[in-house]
Amino acid sequence: MANPSLLILAGDGIGPEVMDEVKKLIAWFDTKGIVTFDVSEGLVGGCSYDAHGTPLTDETMARAQEVDAVLLGAVGGPKYDKLDFSVKPERGLLRLRKEMDLFSNLRPAQCFDALADFSSLKRDVVAGLDIVIVRELTSGVYFGEPRGIFMEGNERVGINTQRYTESEIARVARSAFELARKRGNKVCSMEKANVMESGILWRDVVQEIHDKEYPDVALTHMYADNGAMQLCRWPKQFDVIVTDNLFGDVLSDMAAMLTGSLGMLPSASLGLPQANGRPKALYEPVHGSAPDITGQGKANPIACILSFAMALRYSFDMGAEATRVEKAVEKVLADGVRTADLMGPEGGTPVSTTQMGDAIIAAMEASL
Ligand code: NAD
Ligand code: IPM
Ligand code: MN
Repeated sequence: MANPSLLILAGDGIGPEVMDEVKKLIAWFDTKGIVTFDVSEGLVGGCSYDAHGTPLTDETMARAQEVDAVLLGAVGGPKYDKLDFSVKPERGLLRLRKEMDLFSNLRPAQCFDALADFSSLKRDVVAGLDIVIVRELTSGVYFGEPRGIFMEGNERVGINTQRYTESEIARVARSAFELARKRGNKVCSMEKANVMESGILWRDVVQEIHDKEYPDVALTHMYADNGAMQLCRWPKQFDVIVTDNLFGDVLSDMAAMLTGSLGMLPSASLGLPQANGRPKALYEPVHGSAPDITGQGKANPIACILSFAMALRYSFDMGAEATRVEKAVEKVLADGVRTADLMGPEGGTPVSTTQMGDAIIAAMEASL
């Protein structure tokens, strides 16, 4: 049988720096005879614009459609801020999500015990936290029409449209309920049904899917602004949160701080199962290209490494190996190994991106 295939798109800024540490892990799995991936690499974002004048070429898009999973680092950066909107680095990522139909974006926020003091919230509030935000990823205000900057009389007007069909809401709701059944069996759906028609439809459809197909799962609804407050107040009340594209973007960055650092949060973007039973999939850290620390060896590679662990679990049925990676991360954190973003108030000497990757490999070795 052919080896499982991976397309690596490291992207811009710290993307290649954190992805180098994932490559070490891929090589480790190969050397140990556990799994050999057929790895190809491509460009996305600003680096693709520099090479080809577009943030994603048709060839790379086609390759992404063929492989078993895509691993992405990050895109964007100040160098590209003035580019025309149509060729901005972020458009490359959005095209991948849309054309691969990756509607279900799982963003777990887990607080490792060793980091419970590094969150901006009190230890009691975050210790033991284990929640997942399921963000709808291919619709909503990110893609709705009409959009653009137009003239209205003698002034400009910027327009984006929040638009959801019931089938789009239904499929992401199903993925949240399925996930909840494997976890704490609770879903909280967040929208603004008090001010938005799309929010009213969202609430109705999530409730209908629940009542018809998942009555065993505990479902609650919350306005997204209250949800943001509740995530800070007592995040452990949640198990799975399902929400739209824009609220999910904002709420997941917020959830990152519950875990100690944005450099800790992985994500999986999944489509519907294909003929082979696996979903199309892209795995990427929640963070961006971090221009402020690029090239300094300061980036925390854990979000990218945990995204690879999600790939092992969701694309390759290698749950035990995914757990091995997660345990290795937990072990190095428990041993006090910290990149700069994980320095607590008591200070200490941070390790570099590479040293963190090496420490995780050493913990993998020790787990054999
Ligand atoms: P960012 O996530 O890049 O950085 C926010 C802050 O978090 C910065 O201070 C950064 O240094 C820090 N940070 C992020 N990741 C880190 C890591 N792994 N280790 C240590 N510190 C880390 O967000 P931003 O500054 O708002 O955006 C920068 C660029 O990245 C923009 O062009 C934006 O569009 C893009 N972006 C891309 C993605 C993606 O590729 N998925 C996600 C978010 C932002
Ligand atoms: C994310 C990012 C992206 C988004 C950008 C870079 C397109 O912020 O993945 O969270 O807004 O979805
Ligand atoms: Mn974001």
